[in-house]
Amino acid sequence: MSGAGKTVCVTGASGYIASWLVKLLLAKGYTVKASVRDPNDPKKTEHLLALDGAKERLHLFKANLLEEGSFDSLVDGCEGVFHTASPVTFIATDPQVELIDPAVKGTLNVLGSCAKVPSVKRVVLTSSVAAVLYSRKPRTPDVVVDETWFSDPKFCKEILAQESGYVLSKTLSEEAAWKFAKEKGVDMITINPSMVIGPLLQPTLNSSVKLILDLVNGAQTFPNLTFGWVDVKDVANAHIQAFEIPSASGRFVFVSRVAHYSQIVKTLRELYPTLNLPEKCADDEPYMPTYQVSQEKAKSLGINFIPLEVSLKETIESLKEKGFFSS
Ligand SMILES: NC(=O)c1ccc[n+]([C@@H]2O[C@H](COP(=O)([O-])OP(=O)(O)OC[C@H]3O[C@@H](n4cnc5c(N)ncnc54)[C@H](OP(=O)(O)O)[C@@H]3O)[C@@H](O)[C@H]2O)c1
Repeated sequence: MSGAGKTVCVTGASGYIASWLVKLLLAKGYTVKASVRDPNDPKKTEHLLALDGAKERLHLFKANLLEEGSFDSLVDGCEGVFHTASPVTFIATDPQVELIDPAVKGTLNVLGSCAKVPSVKRVVLTSSVAAVLYSRKPRTPDVVVDETWFSDPKFCKEILAQESGYVLSKTLSEEAAWKFAKEKGVDMITINPSMVIGPLLQPTLNSSVKLILDLVNGAQTFPNLTFGWVDVKDVANAHIQAFEIPSASGRFVFVSRVAHYSQIVKTLRELYPTLNLPEKCADDEPYMPTYQVSQEKAKSLGINFIPLEVSLKETIESLKEKGFFSS
């Protein structure tokens, strides 16, 4: 019980990744202060309050990314701060308002609270490969992406259309966070996961798992896209390891496997031959190429990646169990 007697906090605790993080922190004996936007919404809190250890060691706080000082009472008395809260949607009508402002201002808001509180030893920020992949370097099967890659905001705007709001929000918020942490001497680590899948603890559907649900829910085609994929349990665990291992520093990219959608569909078909899966790609262009991602730093945190096949199976089982689809 490495966390016994220690207090940490998690922002956006009702989210997909954060719910797993809270579960694992409680299992390790930590006392967890958890922020949610609406503590009176049972959909956001019931699954957290039902976790083992929650009765004794979970404390809920109300906080909003856009309210200055909102996180002061949350981080007060904490040794570790896990900042996961950030809007995740790949479609936004006003990306600046819906995504970029809460991500950037919210991150600076949380870090501002951390800088005021002497108890805080380390901040672990949930960034994304979105803040890594969109440099001007090509991504092809022989290229290895690693932690030295930084997305270029100008390039994001040039090449990405609809989804650029989310990519930009993660790129700009990580950039602002590093600047702030260096200036104020905050010990910060970023976890940069790719598309996260695996079982859900929360009762609602989150954006990354929805990509898998869409495939099994009657889609006629699959997108011509290649993503890195990683399991939610590995990502949550990585956050804790990054806090607990004193020598850990900098960024950690987390990708179990890079795969085109056609590969995801093929694996799902092998796992579930009776599922109604799309046969065709959405366009006739060559498939978006794959690339490699270095796992060296990630493995230094002691993570042995859960295989993609296992994550996909557990995602489907979880979606069925929660009633998101039947068959
Ligand atoms: N899932 C992925 O594939 C993936 C990959 C890489 C990085 N990430 C990063 O991981 C983090 C968690 O993502 P997730 O997939 O777990 O998404 P999620 O389930 O949608 O969780 C996002 C959380 O952010 C909170 N939030 C959004 N706007 C807020 C605001 N204005 N004030 C306070 N809280 C706010 C949400 O609160 P409510 O519950 O109140 O809405 C929710 O708890 C994000 O930083 C995301 O960028 C996710």
